[in-house]
Amino acid sequence: MNPFRYSDPIPVEDLVDREVERQEMIDLAWSANNARLAAPRRYGKTSLLKATLAKAADEGWTTVYVDFFGVLDLTDIASRIETAYSEQLTGRLRQWFTSLRRTLRPVARVGGGPVSLEVSTSAGPGDPLTERLNLPLRLHERDGRRVLVAFDEFQDVLTAANADAIIRSQIQHHGTAASYIFAGSQVGMMEELFADKRRAFYAQARPVALPPLSALDLGEFIAGRFTATGKDVGVGLGPLLDTAAGHPQRAMLLAHELWTVTPSGSAADEEAWVSALAVALAATREEAKTIWTHLSGAERQVLTAVAENRAGLYSTASGSSRGGSRQRAAQSLVAASEITLDPNTRTGYRVVDPLLAEWLRLGRPTQ
Ligand SMILES: Nc1ncnc2c1ncn2[C@@H]1O[C@H](COP(=O)(O)OP(=O)(O)OP(=O)(O)O)[C@@H](O)[C@H]1O
Ligand SMILES: [Mg+2]
Repeated sequence: MNPFRYSDPIPVEDLVDREVERQEMIDLAWSANNARLAAPRRYGKTSLLKATLAKAADEGWTTVYVDFFGVLDLTDIASRIETAYSEQLTGRLRQWFTSLRRTLRPVARVGGGPVSLEVSTSAGPGDPLTERLNLPLRLHERDGRRVLVAFDEFQDVLTAANADAIIRSQIQHHGTAASYIFAGSQVGMMEELFADKRRAFYAQARPVALPPLSALDLGEFIAGRFTATGKDVGVGLGPLLDTAAGHPQRAMLLAHELWTVTPSGSAADEEAWVSALAVALAATREEAKTIWTHLSGAERQVLTAVAENRAGLYSTASGSSRGGSRQRAAQSLVAASEITLDPNTRTGYRVVDPLLAEWLRLGRPTQ
């Protein structure tokens, strides 16, 4: 079986590095602080959250993982929280929750869509969302264990009017009973939630960064998995590490494809690498096209200039009149996590997804 997984969150034994970040989040929880993990798409946020919760559980915490992806309103938020507790508590806590759940004001019809129950935006004490937000207090009262809650895709709560203020108004009273980790891939929206003075979560959680993986860690992991499955990564390793540029999911995708084209008992050669890269590019082309389609003209110019590492990002052939729009385009590409600051390039940025960058450099082929 191919030892490289490139989709879905991965189990802790497949996780390269990230020990520092995991410990940092656990330390923050022990000191009754909250953390926020903002990183681009597919950088391993969910995998790391789950690994962190697993370690915290070993250290005696009760843990809950809530995914807010796609929530539309306060009712959705309330029912996501409730479902998370009902699915993840174990043993006696699970039975206790089965009973407790029946005492909560309902937000969803059993087995069906949401009922039209209004979750009031004032969020009073008997409010369905408030009751669910305060579940960590009930848990903590029951057995004295502290509760670590991970809120994944947290930027999606911005879709629901006033949700961040309501969530904050409750969890700020949780003291040492509960700590929170907020994670999200829209770096711009996470900034808006946590770094904007006008928002409820301003300065409420310590940022934890997720940098690209180092070539050393990736190289050791990839070479090791080849060896363990009777193959040799051979001369494929160098170009793979260069192309992936530390992007966790892209590195695994490339390793997966390289492993596939390498026959059992032999080493990957130049030809194997070329065909693995071609397969990976083909697999990501539709996604690249979709991103491209949704960009403005100025954003396309900037993204391509960054991919090609061209000097003079803000100067245009027709003079400097478009410089301002290019700067705004660069800012919006940063907010969307398509590009990120990188002092080692001529433009001062790099494209976050190395396969998108490759597609741009290849002249944006449609097939
Ligand atoms: N530390 C890591 N070591 C090895 N592979 C990793 C690591 N981090 C991420 N990956 C790769 O990235 C893929 C996606 O991981 P995960 O779903 O945890 O990321 P995410 O940031 O939550 O993604 P999304 O933005 O889609 O929610 C995994 O299947 C794996 O291939
Ligand atoms: Mg995720």
